[in-house]
Amino acid sequence: MKERIESVLKQVEDFGSKTASEIESFRIEMLGKKGQITALFNEFRSLPGEQKRDFGKPLNELKKKASEKVLALKEAAEQNLDHSSGLDLSRPANFKSLGSRHPVNLVKNEIVSIFRRIGFNVSAGPEVEDDWHNFTALNFPEEHPARDMQDTFFVARDPDWALRTHTSSVQVRVMENNEPPIRTISPGRVFRNEAISARSHCFFHQVEGLYIDKKVSFADLKQTLLFFAQEFFGPDTKIRLRPSYFPFTEPSAEMDVYWGLENERDYRMTKGTGWLEVLGCGMVDPNVLKNNGIDPEVYSGYAFGIGVERIALHRYQIPDIRMLFENDLRFLEQFKAAY
Ligand code: DAH
Repeated sequence: MKERIESVLKQVEDFGSKTASEIESFRIEMLGKKGQITALFNEFRSLPGEQKRDFGKPLNELKKKASEKVLALKEAAEQNLDHSSGLDLSRPANFKSLGSRHPVNLVKNEIVSIFRRIGFNVSAGPEVEDDWHNFTALNFPEEHPARDMQDTFFVARDPDWALRTHTSSVQVRVMENNEPPIRTISPGRVFRNEAISARSHCFFHQVEGLYIDKKVSFADLKQTLLFFAQEFFGPDTKIRLRPSYFPFTEPSAEMDVYWGLENERDYRMTKGTGWLEVLGCGMVDPNVLKNNGIDPEVYSGYAFGIGVERIALHRYQIPDIRMLFENDLRFLEQFKAAY
């Protein structure tokens, strides 16, 4: 018995692990139900009286030493975690909040992906434009009201430089730099010097489309827009084209999609018509082709400009356009599930 007590004592003294799991297995091996020290105590109980006197004290001391050692090592192990590397791998991880895509981007990305699937590439142009790209090359007459100070933000009081009022300016840049056939869409931000309200803002987003080739017809335009509407709004979507006017297209039209008139909300959203205005479009005016060095006797084309915010407001039932640009996290977080 004496030797066994001494051998266990030596084990206790020699033990020096630093990891919490090793310390715990050591505790179990010594002090657990089937541990070595527990076994010695069980044996001790059945010893004759005088032997008990000899072994009682060393046994109790052994147990005390073992318990103290375990406690000290555990404490040291915990402090080690805190101080040695500054890392405590046992702590629960910090919750990292995931970002969300902006509703304007969600709609823009979807529009872009629909047109990419039918062979359109993506082009971009500058937000600060000169008069030629934003107006003149697009066949705006000299006295056209869109050139008026009221609609346009001019840059540094220079009437030749302004924030682009539409993405149609990118059409001009693409035609300048490419030979037909041209099939391109140009998403981007545009600016208008207008009063801000629930329905309109001084900046918003458009996706411009331009298709130029030999023998492009209005039927091509209509079929492409119907395809877009049915991909975006659903396979049963109906469209209608209303005659309209834009300087850069002839003939021009505006496209509505049928939204329905089932409840009060539909009434409000469609101003009682059931139709939702989605884009402007038309056949590229021969003057615009000429302005950009493309022979209108050989080529024809169509163009369209889709308003992104308008679609986003309807799709997500957002009551006020200003909510899109306030960057209130309570608003933006609602788009986490969308992609
Ligand atoms: N640029 C027009 C606007 O800002 C939209 C537009 C209409 C673009 C007809 C086009 C088009 O390309 O063909 O309201």
